[in-house]
Amino acid sequence: MKAAAGALADGQPVGLPTETVYGLAADALRPEAVAEVFEAKERPFFDPLIVHLPSRDWLDRVTNIPAESRAMVEALVTKFWPGPLTLVLPRQLVVPDIVTSGLDTVAVRMSAHPVFRAVVEHYGHPLAAPSANRFGHISPTTAGHVRSELNGRIPLIIDGGPTQHGVESTIVKVDSGELRLLRAGPVTPEDLGEVFQALCEARNYRPTEIELSNFFERLGVSFSAILRGERSVRVEAPGQLESHYAPRTPLRLIKPGVEVMIYDQENHVQARLGSLAFSQPSTAAHFTYEEILSPSGDLREAAATLFAKMRRLDEAGLDMILAEEVPEHGLGIAIMDRLRKASA
Ligand code: TXA
Ligand code: MG
Repeated sequence: MKAAAGALADGQPVGLPTETVYGLAADALRPEAVAEVFEAKERPFFDPLIVHLPSRDWLDRVTNIPAESRAMVEALVTKFWPGPLTLVLPRQLVVPDIVTSGLDTVAVRMSAHPVFRAVVEHYGHPLAAPSANRFGHISPTTAGHVRSELNGRIPLIIDGGPTQHGVESTIVKVDSGELRLLRAGPVTPEDLGEVFQALCEARNYRPTEIELSNFFERLGVSFSAILRGERSVRVEAPGQLESHYAPRTPLRLIKPGVEVMIYDQENHVQARLGSLAFSQPSTAAHFTYEEILSPSGDLREAAATLFAKMRRLDEAGLDMILAEEVPEHGLGIAIMDRLRKASA
């Protein structure tokens, strides 16, 4: 921890575990330290970073919460912090432009990981930390992944074992007291709906079904589609590119139970295929290499192992990876978002 705080004070980026994925952290209030993060990741400057706070009282030092958003922000922070929820709010000017890409908003969160918390509390200043991968690649869920992504580019990686959630934090923008989902993650639309209901109940008000449905519409999520297990998220995050989280091997999404045959035209041989199945071995084709996300069909377990299994498939020398769609509710929404971006 001393080594981490020392490197941060020197303006150097440090690889740190969070409960979602590993981050590459630097002092968020020092532009030249943040620049090192962009350089190590080869990240374009138009993509803003998340600021990780040492404590909740930093919230009002880096953001400027409008009165009409206050109750919603308090409710979200009380329920989900420290944890995998990032809020996009109007920023204070102490946050350097390089962190926000010049936007008038800043993304903030408080990590629940004991190692991350110990480092940021000890350091005492907010840390800007994107996922610790090179730009566009799969986010790292182990210290080994960080090493293979950024070897030789950063002075220190702290190993806190595999991360708990395995997908990046949920991002919501709070605007005029209303929520918009910018990135699906461990805090699900259903979880956010509960906060909306609790806020209403605190005012002795019971929302009607239409009001609840309107809440999800504004969030950018079709609640009836969630209930039907169909694609439910329509709004895509600004600053998020369509292709992301991408293995080098081409990845295609397939529906469960569909059969495919892929022929390598050039070499007149059957292609070497990898399978990323949800809960049961896929029978879609003959596979050279197979991974199953969760034999018991648990979406949380599937999310936690998703990126590590994508990496293993990527390293198996395959021509193509066929990833099976997962049920699109709860954490399945975040998993499908990542699989779509990996296949784009
Ligand atoms: O779980 C996580 O959030 C991890 C860990 C390390 O905390 N971090 C992470 O950071 O995923 P990164 O940089 O890989 O993704 C942050 C996303 C980007 O897509 C960026 O465009 C978006 O957050 N973002 C940051 N500031 C924003 C803002 N002011 N408005 C809209 N989107 C913003
Ligand atoms: Mg990232």
